[in-house]
Amino acid sequence: MASKSSKILAGLVVLAGVGAATAWALTKPSPRPDADWANLGTPDLVKGEQVIWAGGCVSCHAATGATGEAVKVLSGGRALPSPFGTFHIPNISSDPHAGIGSWTLAQFGNAMTRGVGPEGEHLYPSFPYGSYARMTPADVNNLFGYIKTLPASSNVAPPHELGFPFNIRLAVGGWKLLYFNDKPRVQLANADDKVKRGQYLVEGPGHCGECHTPRDALGGLKTNLWLAGGPNPEGKGSIPNITPGGKVKDWSEADMVNYFQTGFTPDFDSVGGQMAEVQQNLAHLPQADLEAISAYLKAVPAR
Ligand code: HEC
Ligand code: HEC
Repeated sequence: MASKSSKILAGLVVLAGVGAATAWALTKPSPRPDADWANLGTPDLVKGEQVIWAGGCVSCHAATGATGEAVKVLSGGRALPSPFGTFHIPNISSDPHAGIGSWTLAQFGNAMTRGVGPEGEHLYPSFPYGSYARMTPADVNNLFGYIKTLPASSNVAPPHELGFPFNIRLAVGGWKLLYFNDKPRVQLANADDKVKRGQYLVEGPGHCGECHTPRDALGGLKTNLWLAGGPNPEGKGSIPNITPGGKVKDWSEADMVNYFQTGFTPDFDSVGGQMAEVQQNLAHLPQADLEAISAYLKAVPAR
C-alpha cells in the first residue's frame, strides 16, 4: 500500500512538474534576439523627441503635477489606479542608479517591445508595451537616445500596491500568453501610405487603443471592438468611440487635426479628462502625422 501511494504521489509530482515546466515554457519572459538591436546607428534625436510625444511617456513618467518643460524630467512617482491595484510609475530618467541611464539599448528595447525588464522579469502591462510592441527598432533607438539627453532625477518610486495574484510578476506570463502580440489590430485593405503611417502611430507608439478600446475581466483589449470606447478603467465616466461609428464621424480631417493641436472640438468644446494630456503631447507632432492619424481613424471599421 505504502509503495502504491508513494508511486501515485511520485506520479503526481512528475505530472505537476510537467505542468509547471509546460506553463513555464509557454509563459516565460521572451526577449528579442540581440541582432534586432544591433547596427541601428547613431540615434536621430529630432525623431526621438517626436516618438516621446507620440508615445505619451511624460503623461505617466513625469513627476506628479509637473507642467511645461518640467514634464521632460522622467522622475516617475505618479500613482496609477487600476482594477488590480495601484501602480507607482518608475523613474526612467537618465540617472544611472535611480533611472535607466545605465541600461543597454537591448534592455530598453525589450522593455518597450516585449515587456521584459533588465533582470529578465515580466513587466506589468499597465506600462502599455502591448501597443509599443509595434514600434520599429529604429524608433526605439531614437527614443532611447533622446531620453538620455533629458535631465537625471534621483527619485525612487514606492513599490506597487497590488492584490494577489497580481502582485506576482510570473502571473503576467499568463496574461501575455492570452493577449500579447505585435500584429496589426485591424486589417485594412488598400491602405495608402498615409493610412499606414496613421495605423503605425495609433496602434504602436500612440497606444490610443489602451484607453479607447473596451477591456474584458482580465484586462485584455476586446479587439473586436477596436477603438469603440467604453467605461473608463480608471473609474470615472466613459471613453468615447473614435471609430466612424462615433461622434467623430462628422469631423473633417481639419477638425481632427485642430482638436489634436488646440484641444477644441468643432463645436468649441475643449478637451477634458485623460485626453487633455494626450492632446498636449500630440500637439508636438508634425501636421502630416496628425493628418495620418485622422486618415486611419476614418479607415477603421465603424463600431
Ligand atoms: C499609462 C502609463 C504609462 C505610459 C504612457 C508609459 N509608461 Fe513606462 N511604465 C509604466 C508603468 C506602470 C511601469 C512599471 C511596470 C512594472 O513595474 O512592471 C513602467 C515601466 C517602464 C519601464 C521599465 C522601468 C523599470 O525600471 O523596469 C520603461 C523603460 C518605461 N516604462 C519606458 C516608457 C517609455 C519610453 C514610455 C513612452 C514611449 C512609457 N514608458 C510610457 C507606465 C507607463
Ligand atoms: C489615457 C487615455 C487616453 C488615451 C491614451 C487616448 N485617449 Fe483619446 N480620449 C480619452 C478621453 C477620456 C476622451 C474624452 C475627452 C473629453 O471628455 O473631453 C478622449 C477623446 C478623444 C477624441 C474626441 C472624441 C469625441 O467624441 O469627443 C479623439 C478624436 C481622441 N480621443 C483620439 C485619440 C487618439 C488619436 C489617441 C492616440 C494618439 C488617443 N485619443 C489616446 C482618453 C484617451
